[in-house]
Amino acid sequence: MIFKSSTTAVPDVPAVPRHVAIIMDGNGRWATKRLLPRVAGHVKGVEAVRGVVEACALRGVEYLTLFAFSSENWRRPAEEVSLLMRLFVTALEREVAKMHANDIRLKVVGDLSRFDPKLQDMIANAERKTAGNTRLTVSVCANYGGRWDIMQATSKMVAANPGLSEYTEELLAPHLAMAYAPEPDLFIRTGGEERISNFLLWQLAYSELYFTDTYWPDFSAESLDAAIASYQHRERRFGRTGEQVANKN
Ligand code: IPE
Ligand code: IPE
Ligand code: MG
Repeated sequence: MIFKSSTTAVPDVPAVPRHVAIIMDGNGRWATKRLLPRVAGHVKGVEAVRGVVEACALRGVEYLTLFAFSSENWRRPAEEVSLLMRLFVTALEREVAKMHANDIRLKVVGDLSRFDPKLQDMIANAERKTAGNTRLTVSVCANYGGRWDIMQATSKMVAANPGLSEYTEELLAPHLAMAYAPEPDLFIRTGGEERISNFLLWQLAYSELYFTDTYWPDFSAESLDAAIASYQHRERRFGRTGEQVANKN
């Protein structure tokens, strides 16, 4: 399916966001506050992921995108990075069968070439196994960066259309890493920071932004409902006037 960009066409505004994208932040501070090692926060964070995936499926969200590891997170201490990789492997081992049983499709988005080949294989297998599922698409952004995405898409666009004097949004869009999904309707960042941290730069152009102080391990189905309720009170104008929105034109 081809989804039009929000800057070239005005999308429908459904009551339940079709696509929710989340920066899952605050694991480390959640643990530190409890005098636990940071890793304990990451472990608890995986549990929160399970709860939010289930809640999204039940509410009819079609796409859930989770920022799990940014291209800048390699800057963390080697021990924390390797622990996060191990957690990723364990989560794949434990969750993929369950996701498949619940008609959930899994995608892993980012520059995967830097990961251990065994992890790359696991990811490919999980994606293949769940490829036909249609209830909810969960995209895990790993070694993802918004700038990386725009640059890799640009390279592919130019390779596919060499020598043009002008390149357009429509030519670029199909090469973005998440071309299979509409743009996020609702963006959530937990953990109190109010920044994008190189997440989906292109795709967030017209997303509704929601920030909460709740640390990711404490983010529950109720927290998700609060974010969706906030979204439902917004007026999405996409450049038009409030009057035009009210008259549906
Ligand atoms: C988010 O939590 C998880 C990852 C970035 C992998 P953090 O680990 O960033 O937690 P804080 O921000 O240090 O509390
Ligand atoms: C963003 O969180 C990345 C993920 C949640 C995976 P960070 O904790 O890395 O972001 P900064 O460094 O505070 O901006
Ligand atoms: Mg953080």
